[in-house]
Amino acid sequence: MLDAAALAGVSPRAIDPHPLRSAATPAQETFIRTAAYDGPVMVFGLGLLRAKYRALAAGLGDAAIHYAVKANPAPEVIAALAGMGCRFDAASRGEIALCLSLGIAPERIAFGNTIKRAADIAWAHRAGIRQFAVDAEEEVRKIAAHAPGARVLVRLLIEESEADWPLCRKFGTTRREALRLMDLGRFLGLEVAGISFHAGSQLREPAMWRGALDAALALWTEAEAAGHRLSLLNIGGGFPAFYGQETPATEDYARTVIGMVRARFGDVAVMAEPGRGLVAEAGLILAEVLLVARKDPADLARWVYLDIGKYSGLAETTDEAIRYQLETGHEGETGPCILAGPSCDSTDVLYEKRPVQLPLALAEGDRVRILACGAYTSSYSSVGFNGFPPLRSVFVG
Ligand SMILES: Cc1ncc(COP(=O)(O)O)c(C=O)c1O
Repeated sequence: MLDAAALAGVSPRAIDPHPLRSAATPAQETFIRTAAYDGPVMVFGLGLLRAKYRALAAGLGDAAIHYAVKANPAPEVIAALAGMGCRFDAASRGEIALCLSLGIAPERIAFGNTIKRAADIAWAHRAGIRQFAVDAEEEVRKIAAHAPGARVLVRLLIEESEADWPLCRKFGTTRREALRLMDLGRFLGLEVAGISFHAGSQLREPAMWRGALDAALALWTEAEAAGHRLSLLNIGGGFPAFYGQETPATEDYARTVIGMVRARFGDVAVMAEPGRGLVAEAGLILAEVLLVARKDPADLARWVYLDIGKYSGLAETTDEAIRYQLETGHEGETGPCILAGPSCDSTDVLYEKRPVQLPLALAEGDRVRILACGAYTSSYSSVGFNGFPPLRSVFVG
């Protein structure tokens, strides 16, 4: 139970730290105002996506952009990006097949997951995919056996990250092991082209790349000293979206990051794999309030239950890591709320440690807009957990 005493230690800034910045375009507005509400829906603006791509490409200069399909695998998104010259980072056979089915040439697709089924490596190789990521000896051997002669990038483990959604531990390998994998790859006839890393998702400031870039440079230098002729640096994703805390404008941010890369690596070929930074701000989710309740009349905080939760699209609220901004359409006084999803699962609570500040007038049946939801929502919601259907998306101009 969250009562006044419990809230006493929570500063107003911790509860409601940031101003809203509504991202709805006229086309999104038209849909929201005219379509009958039929459950949570992502309203995705393809024009916003194109503008983001242009800004990122301008900032990244001659670095190749491989969109991380996992962030939002909708064919509409992939086709729009493909039409602008984007390349793709795929996590699975399914994502590769999706890109190929949209007419994207296999040379524009890299298989970026370091954990792959041998049969899928063989399938991808037959389909024309030539670039694979590795971070373990067994994976190097699998690639040598099932994609002979393929180009590999060895993924470096980033042990610490300042990212809001860190990707430490699971992926990558230590510098010492990476060097051993490079030697092994070369011995097995693979083209050891370079290294990859992911500095963590949602890196709000370019300075947050520093540690990962320094670690990558140390590995690069040692590998060259050991006789490897590296030519390609994959800096992964991490480009941020606006969730309420200011970040530099996309083009400036990308230009700063690429400047940090060039200062260390000179003019090597660079690729980036943005996911969130490209698609998040292009989508908003329209949802509904199912219930507003207090556990006890004395409680200061209300519980607000939405018709969307952690298991139907908002998985990135785990540990309250990604804090989505909400618009309710109500003016007036606000109070602290614990926000929860609709499922019959007690872990389906979105924000409780840091409650959100919502209007006192908020009531059952009200629509809320959850902003910057175009990344890692519909793709996380592909199973009908508890009988709630996967998140629907509509695409507008
Ligand atoms: C290999 C790889 N590349 C790129 C991305 C995209 O990262 P972001 O959405 O932070 O740009 C991810 C995300 O998990 C990833 O695993």
